[in-house]
Amino acid sequence: MIEECKWRGLDAIRLSNREGEATVTLNGAHVVSYRRAGGEELLWLSAKSHYAEGKPIRGGIPVCWPWFGPVQEPAHGVARISRWEFAGGTEREDGGTEGCFRLKSGDLEAELTVTAGRALRVELKTRWTGTGPMELTEALHTYFRISDIGKIWITGLENAPFVDKLTGETKTESAAIRIDRETDRVYHSSGTTELHDGGRTVRIAKRGSNSTVVWNPWRDKSIRMADFGDDEYPGMVCVETANAGADAVTLTPGEWHSITATIEEF
Ligand code: BG6
Repeated sequence: MIEECKWRGLDAIRLSNREGEATVTLNGAHVVSYRRAGGEELLWLSAKSHYAEGKPIRGGIPVCWPWFGPVQEPAHGVARISRWEFAGGTEREDGGTEGCFRLKSGDLEAELTVTAGRALRVELKTRWTGTGPMELTEALHTYFRISDIGKIWITGLENAPFVDKLTGETKTESAAIRIDRETDRVYHSSGTTELHDGGRTVRIAKRGSNSTVVWNPWRDKSIRMADFGDDEYPGMVCVETANAGADAVTLTPGEWHSITATIEEF
């Protein structure tokens, strides 16, 4: 089923079927909720988040586009604070319910397709209609809801080189990732990662993405963020499907580029 609804006062689209359901706000084309039928909410949201047109939502899946990080104002690009157009939806033969959202920003066009079902699939397509080459960075900045940051581990990035954004150093990951402090890393990896949380495994498979960002602000940084509760950090981790830093994508006029995250829980 594809329904228009209100979510915390924001215009949204709910995509649901017997296998799962997702809610996407038009502010940011932001996936704010996904659950598999019979399962629990997959995405984390801060109790301190803003829910207002033109403000980013703290949690869910912010779309960072057409740049990632504070390289320009606004940080993480205009997509997450812009109102997107709902361009329609389809019930797919494979059981997924799909909704498509569009945004134009200058000479750039974006199309976000969210498919809810047994898995959550998010595809972000970009087309550059200007002249000459255009450099794009982007992320599907996924906030996962977890039992406790001290108990989870992430696999699939062993041997991947990464930039530690806190120190500027480049290193290579040696083992499964466990987080016990502020962590902000851009891994160079196009592979599948898995988030392990007790008996739960969340698999994040991707296409068109050469970076995976792993982020937890820990306490001091949370205190500095107005839209993030001081003691909320143990309940979340971001594992982001991205093209960031040195993995920027060069678009040529008229060309479509696509990045996809397929997230499934076992
Ligand atoms: C992560 C970045 O992707 O997003 C971090 O790597 C940043 O550096 C975090 O702090 C949150 O960004 P923002 O703009 O939503 O506060």
